[in-house]
Amino acid sequence: MARPQSDAALLEGVRAICHCLDQADDRQGYELDWRGRRFGRALGVALPATVEEVSRLVGYCGRHRIAIVAQGGNTGLCGGAVPTGDGRDRQLILSLRRMNRIRRIDPLTDSLIVEAGVLLQEVQQAADGADRLFPLSLGAEGSCTIGGNIATNAGGNAVLRYGNMRDLVLGLEVVLPSGEIWHGLRSLRKDNAGYDLKQLFIGSEGTLGIITAAALKLFPPLRQVDTALLALPSCEAALSLLKALQTREDVPLTAFELISAESVRLVGEQFPDKSFPLEPGHPAYVLVEAGWTGPCREDAFEQCLERVWGACGVVDAVVAKSDAQAAALWFWRESITEAQLRAGPHLKHDISLPIADIPEFVEQMDATLRSRFPGLRIVNFGHMGDGNLHYNLNAAPGVTADTLQAWQPEIERLIYDHVAERQGSFSAEHGIGQTKMDDLARYRSAVELNLMSVIKSSLDPEGLFNPGKIVGQRPFDTDGDEAF
Ligand code: FAD
Ligand code: MLT
Ligand code: ZN
Repeated sequence: MARPQSDAALLEGVRAICHCLDQADDRQGYELDWRGRRFGRALGVALPATVEEVSRLVGYCGRHRIAIVAQGGNTGLCGGAVPTGDGRDRQLILSLRRMNRIRRIDPLTDSLIVEAGVLLQEVQQAADGADRLFPLSLGAEGSCTIGGNIATNAGGNAVLRYGNMRDLVLGLEVVLPSGEIWHGLRSLRKDNAGYDLKQLFIGSEGTLGIITAAALKLFPPLRQVDTALLALPSCEAALSLLKALQTREDVPLTAFELISAESVRLVGEQFPDKSFPLEPGHPAYVLVEAGWTGPCREDAFEQCLERVWGACGVVDAVVAKSDAQAAALWFWRESITEAQLRAGPHLKHDISLPIADIPEFVEQMDATLRSRFPGLRIVNFGHMGDGNLHYNLNAAPGVTADTLQAWQPEIERLIYDHVAERQGSFSAEHGIGQTKMDDLARYRSAVELNLMSVIKSSLDPEGLFNPGKIVGQRPFDTDGDEAF
């Protein structure tokens, strides 16, 4: 097969299949990641509108050795959705944003079939319109897509009750690197017919297949939701509050989010028109949410908080009296990511730990980092209810981006080694993308890495799906690994 000589000729072939942006100004927003840290020059941005167009596009790219970078809302935090390199190796962004139809909603089987480019918020609204709940919820829900959520196995705020994205998927439609379409959109609750293939694509970050549609689980709607922000004397106290609430069957928790005093300070600095509803400066705050599917006493939540108050050392609290007040409380949790970005140079550590280890981890890590790097602001927050901390850092005034970058390897090693010692994970919910490939190679065993490479090379032997993300195709040295 003759290879077209120029990018222009290649793009003409893409345009014959679907809508495509190729001007630098139009490509820009797709080539730079949300954090503004990873930029890769794309051949163009293809915007197919149907699964057949995706299939033809993948076939065409395969014949011409054009790499494909799938993209949803481009809110990913590990640089997975943007190309790598300066364009010489020809990477085409395949945006799913035009595949945005809700194909079917079926309240009777509690399922919903949506195309990959539907925004998470639109999925939630569609479920709501059918008097059902789609529970995945995260700060970027107004811009991220369900395809991106599946490709990253997103977590978010309601995992402690409903699980990660993986737990919410019943079936998938996927275009494989061969161009074949896998029609796996089954809405069954039971299906043990061989390997569970959908699981391969969930969390694969565009490296194994292009997810074009998904069958999702729906849940009974929440008839009453209560939200409170509590101030606590320590992380230890936050843990005992979590345990106390989890042992009470009368308060069905949907979220338990930790917010450190430094996180509050940072949000306050970046959003000066907002006022924090409690006295600032307490060592820890938690945002607690409970949701009832059936009838409950209106004051059940407040009464429960009163009962656990003393034993858990709660210092102060505010309970939302309206949806608007609840949203105002959530603002202090959901705006931390944006505040970190606005504040300048920062590092992210999306870690998970056995929940009982969190207070000791935080105490030890804070002390280590404070003594070794006095110019750091420790912006620790996250989904404490499922053991997931965003143990993030911002540069203090006077610390430049170059300095923070120079410190980064040592800081990451300190944090991730400590996490590994406690049998935790260096990537709880954001994935690997470009930014954590070295960490994956360091913290996962050769057996695991080789399995990943084998899966990658059997599905995508030419390595054209999202190259430079998650895992390459090199074999890993198994010397010294466990032998059985
Ligand atoms: P993108 O960023 O476009 O893509 C992410 C990865 O998936 C890339 O590797 C891409 O190639 C691949 N991909 C995208 N679509 C497809 C597809 N259809 N088929 C195959 N591969 C595809 N994440 C959490 O888990 N929990 C949080 O609480 C959370 N909070 C956030 C808050 C903010 C303010 C921001 C900016 C981000 C947050 N994120 C969070 C990260 C991000 O929103 C999630 O990773 C989200 O799932 C990404 O969806 P997206 O559509 O933007 O995907
Ligand atoms: C969040 O939960 O707000 C994000 O996943 C955290 C982050 O941006 O580091
Ligand atoms: Zn998160």
